Amino acid sequence: MGMQIAPSILSADFANLESEIAKVSTADWLHFDVMDGHFVPNLTVGLPVLERIAQVAPMPVDAHLMIEDADHWAPRYAEAGASSVTFHYEAAKDPKGIARDLRKLGVRASVALKPGTPVEAVLDDIKHFDMVLVMTVEPGFGGQSFMPDMLPKVTALRKAAESAQHDLWIETDGGISRDTIEETARAGCDVFVAGSAVYGAADPSAEVNALRDLAAHAAK
Ligand code: DX5
Ligand code: ZN
Repeated sequence: MGMQIAPSILSADFANLESEIAKVSTADWLHFDVMDGHFVPNLTVGLPVLERIAQVAPMPVDAHLMIEDADHWAPRYAEAGASSVTFHYEAAKDPKGIARDLRKLGVRASVALKPGTPVEAVLDDIKHFDMVLVMTVEPGFGGQSFMPDMLPKVTALRKAAESAQHDLWIETDGGISRDTIEETARAGCDVFVAGSAVYGAADPSAEVNALRDLAAHAAK
């Protein structure tokens, strides 16, 4: 599949989402951050906004659910138009059951790990998931500093996926920029969320391409 870049709308202008999405037309995915003020100390947008965004976005949408009760909510985001749903392991009673439900609805099933959650939580179960998101900041806010000590999790997942011969996508989210994307790609990551790095650039679409090129060259 190659390297993929997913700009986060958390760093976009929420008063102009349609034109903000058009600014990142070169992106592989749109990363849609959902926060409930309980699982993380911040509150963003939810189902009705996702429903319209999925209709107008030219690229597929991955909903990153930083909300409690993932078992109930994850399938609702698939029904609302997300092409991939990423729920948090820490917010799920039955992660494999959620993944089964998501796949049944025809979307990609993805599980996210907070920095404090060991990768062993999912390492033996990767076949049940299409993607694992390794958080490289504490979830809740954009513009935080990248945590390089999360990269061994990425490498462990890449090794496990290779030995299981499973086409697992491995994503990182938080602090990804020109300064951090190369080491992250070398660790085995192939899907990169970037919020402030993309929307803070003069030309967000060009920045997406620049990040993808850096990742591709670093991984060679
Ligand atoms: C943080 C969100 C991220 C955030 C990343 O909890 O999950 O998607 O937007 O922003 P940057 O790329 O600025 O760290
Ligand atoms: Zn996110």
